Amino acid sequence: MKDNEFLIHMLPQDMEINTTEILVLGSGIAGLFTAIKLCDKFEVTVLTKRDIMASSTEHAQGGIAAALNQDDSPEFHFVDTINAGAELCNSEVVKILTEKGPECVRELIELGVEFDKRQGSLDFAKEAAHSRRRILHAKGDATGLEIERTLVAAVRKRNIIIKENHFVIDFLKNAQNQVCGVLVLDSASLKLKIWLARAIIVATGGLGQLYRYTTNPEVTTGDGIAAAYRAGAELMDMEFVQFHPTALNIAGAPTFLISEAARGEGAVLINSEGKRFMEDIDGQELAPRDVVARANWRQMEKGPIYLDFRGLGLDKIKERFPGIYKTCLSYGFDISTTPVPVGPAAHYLMGGIKVDINGRTSLPNLFACGECACNGLHGANRLASNSLLDGLVFASLITEVLKKEIGPMPVPEELQIPEDWQSKIRESSPSTALNSTVIRRKMQQIMWQYVGIIRDKQGLLKAQADIDKYRQEFSPSLEISDLETANMLTLASLIIRAALAREESRGGHFRSDFPTAGEGWQKHSVLKRGEDIVSFISI
Ligand code: SIN
Repeated sequence: MKDNEFLIHMLPQDMEINTTEILVLGSGIAGLFTAIKLCDKFEVTVLTKRDIMASSTEHAQGGIAAALNQDDSPEFHFVDTINAGAELCNSEVVKILTEKGPECVRELIELGVEFDKRQGSLDFAKEAAHSRRRILHAKGDATGLEIERTLVAAVRKRNIIIKENHFVIDFLKNAQNQVCGVLVLDSASLKLKIWLARAIIVATGGLGQLYRYTTNPEVTTGDGIAAAYRAGAELMDMEFVQFHPTALNIAGAPTFLISEAARGEGAVLINSEGKRFMEDIDGQELAPRDVVARANWRQMEKGPIYLDFRGLGLDKIKERFPGIYKTCLSYGFDISTTPVPVGPAAHYLMGGIKVDINGRTSLPNLFACGECACNGLHGANRLASNSLLDGLVFASLITEVLKKEIGPMPVPEELQIPEDWQSKIRESSPSTALNSTVIRRKMQQIMWQYVGIIRDKQGLLKAQADIDKYRQEFSPSLEISDLETANMLTLASLIIRAALAREESRGGHFRSDFPTAGEGWQKHSVLKRGEDIVSFISI
């Protein structure tokens, strides 16, 4: 199916045009850290589609990994990251992450983040596939909330323009094909607006909402990735979606994350007979996430599975996992006495907008960092608690580049508006043939069933046919939920294409028809609008 360059084809003549020097899209850790680091040199505007706190960062529990403990080093962190990534990590960027990580975490502490301490020193937790205790956490299992609150407060104290309820629909370019602005729906005033900038940084997060079960919040619909793809930016490694092994699995309850740190502290997975089932598997409870998620999936074919915290004791549970304890209790499970039902859920996208080490996308003036970006750091499977660190370190590198070189301020006359665009919203807004909510639910079910933890050619082809049909039938109206659904359908089709093309199993991508890692497949898939073939590159 042909992909369009724009989601909607309209540009009202009297549209408000705003300019700013740097436009940051998204208000999670990567976006806010970028804004904070650039605001002393440039006028920075942050656009975010809902309120500023709404992002995956706010929901992060386990913590942030950095080699700051006495028995640790960036080299150990490097080796663990590479091992988890299933021979697909870009070692150059892993080296940067692990070496620059401690300095960036110190900056967070200077901004006011209070990580938990034990006897006056930072307390380090252990998570899957880490050879050392190196995970910093805050308020037990509320690490993300502590970081997000601190960053939001820091942004508000500075001279940074924040525009909430601003949904970025598409990127706009000049005659030289340079990205120079965005078309935005201001959902508070229901007006379309243009924002022009010297450089645009996409930090819009992941796409967990493509799946029936996800640990991600509602905002994670991949809008920045889809818009970048439409604009012609290359995407990389889209087949690699990480499934977290343990999310709360109670009918009617949200798919709430139960941190891997719980198993790091001694909680264990058990089946419906009360027996541990990870004991036979390499690395046991703390094997890499993809291994544990698949083991859980297979075990669930036989019956429900549970996470058993009883060995930890009430005091430890309340101190380390107060949020998990309270949430489970609210659904009738006192985890100090009763194992809680869990199951895997979509958690993180290893792929995304292809960027170089300095966050440059394949389009001039367009940068990306955080979960929406892909520089090969996480390979085929991200090491636990490396995502918040990724957001900091690679945001920081973008800011160093922009302080040295940045394009001129664009002017409205430079905008290249396609001739067929209409000027009146009412005439150009198509009616929605199919209801967006219904399509979204169907898509989530298809993605979960056929493009999830275990895939095969037959299932992927069925998913492709179904998603293509919805894409043909669905045209979004000017409402955020419609625009999100259209973006999600585009991304679903891209994940399926990449998953079909990778005829092997590696990290988060498991094909039951190609169940082992293939010779010569240590390559990254690349997708670009207008190119039918998925290409594979070495970096
Ligand atoms: C968790 O707390 O288990 C999630 C941490 C992560 O995704 O890195």
